[in-house]
Amino acid sequence: MLSGIWRKNDNFKDPMPGRLRASHDKAVPPEAVQDLCASVGWSRREPELITRALHNSLVVVSVWAKTSALSDDEELIGFARATGDKVFNATIWDMVVRPDFQRLGIGKLVMLELLKELDQYQIPLVTLYADPGTDGFYKRFGFLIDPSGVRGMFRESIV
Ligand SMILES: CC(C)(COP(=O)(O)OP(=O)(O)OC[C@H]1O[C@@H](n2cnc3c(N)ncnc32)[C@H](O)[C@@H]1OP(=O)(O)O)[C@@H](O)C(=O)NCCC(=O)NCCS
Repeated sequence: MLSGIWRKNDNFKDPMPGRLRASHDKAVPPEAVQDLCASVGWSRREPELITRALHNSLVVVSVWAKTSALSDDEELIGFARATGDKVFNATIWDMVVRPDFQRLGIGKLVMLELLKELDQYQIPLVTLYADPGTDGFYKRFGFLIDPSGVRGMFRESIV
């Protein structure tokens, strides 16, 4: 259920908080994740791999909106997950909000739910990779570009 951080926004096409649901269940249908990621232009991942990645994640948060007042059908509108060792480190991945629902507090809801669960482990260092133009979003939750100059590095394997 929502944890009370929803803020009504006049632009929101359906301002009823009761029609949103936040979940920490890792069993998110992979097709729903695929569809949400496609909505922001991210490349396609195989459903079986999504399922495995979610199962192996430390925390998974999804936010769902009812598609109509007359049915129980829901649409995945926000998502993020974190991997980690439950002791020293966790890393946030795949933070995404459906374009129609951006700038309405859904990303904030996802981040606060994710950080709330990570805080239960008292993990001292949470990291993430901020796509261009998104660092202002993450800074709101206390994330910093490392002041000592530590830089994220990548090694993409060829499969
Ligand atoms: C980045 C993203 C997750 C933000 O989600 P959102 O639901 O639009 O964010 P919210 O409405 O909850 O915004 C929370 C706060 O961050 C601010 N914010 C949101 N996006 C921002 C951005 N790109 N840059 C700076 N600030 C931003 C909001 O203004 C709001 O500020 P406030 O609390 O002072 O009012 C969303 O735009 C998205 O999915 N983008 C495409 C995918 C992507 O790039 N993901 C990040 C991968 S690293």
